[in-house]
Amino acid sequence: MYPVQRPRRLRSTAALRDLVQETRIFPKQLIYPAFVRDGISEPAAISSLPGQYQHTLDSLRRLAVECAEAGIGGIDLFGVPREEDKDECGSQAWAEDGILNRGLRVLHEELGDDLVICADTCLDEFTSHGHCGLVRPDGTVDNDATLPCYVREALAQAQAGAHMVSPSGMMDGQVAAIRNGLDEAGMKNTAIMAYSAKYASAFFGPFREAVACSLHGDRKTYQQDPANAREGVREALLDVEEGADIVMVKPAGSYLDVVQAVAETVPVPVAAYQVSGDYAMVEAAAQQGWLDRQRVVLESVTGIVRAGADIVLTYWAPEIGHWLH
Ligand code: PBG
Repeated sequence: MYPVQRPRRLRSTAALRDLVQETRIFPKQLIYPAFVRDGISEPAAISSLPGQYQHTLDSLRRLAVECAEAGIGGIDLFGVPREEDKDECGSQAWAEDGILNRGLRVLHEELGDDLVICADTCLDEFTSHGHCGLVRPDGTVDNDATLPCYVREALAQAQAGAHMVSPSGMMDGQVAAIRNGLDEAGMKNTAIMAYSAKYASAFFGPFREAVACSLHGDRKTYQQDPANAREGVREALLDVEEGADIVMVKPAGSYLDVVQAVAETVPVPVAAYQVSGDYAMVEAAAQQGWLDRQRVVLESVTGIVRAGADIVLTYWAPEIGHWLH
C-alpha cells in the first residue's frame, strides 16, 4: 500500500537538498560579455539591456576590478568603434589602436592572468554594412576572402593581451585559418573558443543596439537555421577538427537540446551563450514585477549547466558571482 520509494525524503530539509543537488553553478565557469566604445567620455546605458553599458576605457578598468571581486572566470570583450571609423572591411578590428584592442590592453594591465580575457573575433561591429564578413559587389558574403581578415584580427587581439580569441562570424574554415595564423606567429598558447553552433536568432536583437550594428537584412547565409540540431553537432565537430579548444552553442536558452547533443559528442569543453534577448526578456518581466528576478536568473543558468555546458557566457555573470560568493 505504501510507496517504497519516497523521493520527498531527500527534499525535507535545505541541508538535504543541498547535499543531493546534481547541478551547481560556480562563478569561475561564468564569462561576462562586455562592451567598450570609442569616442564617449561617460559609460552609455544600453536601453534594451537594462543594467548593461557601453564602457569607456576608464569604466572598463573599473569593471575589470569588479569582475575579479565577483570571482568570475573571465570577460569576453566586444568593441564599438566610432561610426566614421567603420569601413567595408572592418579594418579597425585589427588596427593596433582600434577600440577593441585598446580595451584588451586595459584588461590585461588590470587583470594580468587572473581572469581569462577573451576577445570577440568578428567584423560585424567594424564594417559599414554590418555583415560578419567581406561583401561582394552582388551583396553576398565572401567566405574565403574574409578568413585572412579574421587572422589579422586574432593576431592583433592576442598581441593586445587576449588569452582566448572567439571567432563568431560562422565562416567555414575560420578556426583552422586562425589556428595556423596564431601558430605561425608563435602564439601557440592563445586559445580558440569557437562559436561553433551559432544560429540566425531573433534573440540577438538587443545586442545589435549594444554594438550599434549597421546591418540591414539578416545573416541566414552564414548563421544556422534555428530548426537544425544535428547540423549544430556537425559544426562543433568540424571546429574541433580544425583546432578549437572550446566550442560554443549560441543562443543557449532555446537551444538546450543542442548544448546537450554537443556536450555528449565533443571531447573539449563546451560553452553556451545566454544572449541579449534572454537577458532582456527576464529584465523586462522583472521590472513589471511578473518574475522573481534572482530566482529566474539562477534557474535559467542552472538549466544551461544541467544541459551540459561547462562554461556560460551571461550578462548576469558579475551579479551571480556576488550572489554565490
Ligand atoms: C556577432 C555577434 C552577435 C552576438 C555576439 N556576437 C550578434 C549577431 O550575430 O548578430 C550576439 C550576442 C547577444 O545577443 O547577446 N559578432
